[in-house]
Order: sequence, then C-alpha cells, then structure tokens
Amino acid sequence: MSLLPIRTYGDPVLRSRAKEIESIDAKLVALVEDMIETMYEAPGVGLAAPQVGVDKRIFVYDIGEGPKTLINPEIKESSGEWVYEEGCLSVPGLWWPITRPKDVLIVGMDLEGNEVELEGTELLGRVFQHELDHLEGVLLVERLDEDQKKKAMKFIRSEVVIGGGSMRRPPKEQE
Ligand code: NI
Repeated sequence: MSLLPIRTYGDPVLRSRAKEIESIDAKLVALVEDMIETMYEAPGVGLAAPQVGVDKRIFVYDIGEGPKTLINPEIKESSGEWVYEEGCLSVPGLWWPITRPKDVLIVGMDLEGNEVELEGTELLGRVFQHELDHLEGVLLVERLDEDQKKKAMKFIRSEVVIGGGSMRRPPKEQE
C-alpha cells in the first residue's frame, strides 16, 4: 500500500465527469487500498478517485464503521434538508455550512461486485452526496452561495494555491 498525493483545487481531474468502471480487477483493488490509506492519513471521512488523479467512478468512506467502497454509485432518492459544515481534502482549510438533502438512497457496487443499496442520513448522507459530486466534477465551492464563494476564492488564492495547501482553519468571519 502507498499514500497517494491528493489533488487540489485547480487540477482539471477534479472538474470532469469520471468514467464508469467496467470491471473489478487487481489494479482496482490496489487502488482502493491506497485510497483508504490516503483517506485515513489525511485524515478524511471520504475520498473519491478523481482526488487522487484517477478518472473513475469510485469512492471510499469511513464514518466510524470501518472502510467501505462504492463503485458506479447513483443517488436514487433524496429527501429532507440538513445544514452541515462541510470541508474537502481537495480544498484544504475551508469549512462551510452547506444545505443539502438529509436522507439519500444510493445504489452501486461493492468491491466484490455485489450490487448494494444503502440509506444514508445526516453525516453518511452528506458523505455520499459530497463524494458523488467529485465523480461529477463538482467541488464544494460550487455549492456555496455567491457571497460565500467570493470569500472562498479569496481564501483559496491566498492560502491553498500560494501557500501550497495550508490546513489552517479560516478566520471565523469567513464562515
Ligand atoms: Ni471532497
């Protein structure tokens, strides 16, 4: 296993729709092992393949119940509304309260090739939606309102790009 470099804001791999996975092979299993190690090291609760430069529809996550993998995921249903302070390993140092559906039903495949259907509420639902966004080429910056977005871009320009990936929390007034 090895740690993979996490791609950050500005990398084109984060902005394109990732490709469907056609087959599960040893290379994919090795990628998942590296992604899980990278996620724990970061640390994060989820990591999508484009974040490590791989243009494939797969993500890993762990909200405290052990590492899980989802291949070719699709959200089938979503309901409710929940505000949660969300951050992203590809936009380090930023956390924003973002409103999204509270409950989601997601379908996909696990690493053994079994079809799975999972319900996620609150944090788990949030992780599913955030990671699926990565597979669509959407970063959380695009989920912000205009005012938040201006402040985020200012922060990204000053801290992330020039500073090379500071993990410092932004000043309170930026939230
Ligand atoms: Ni992210």
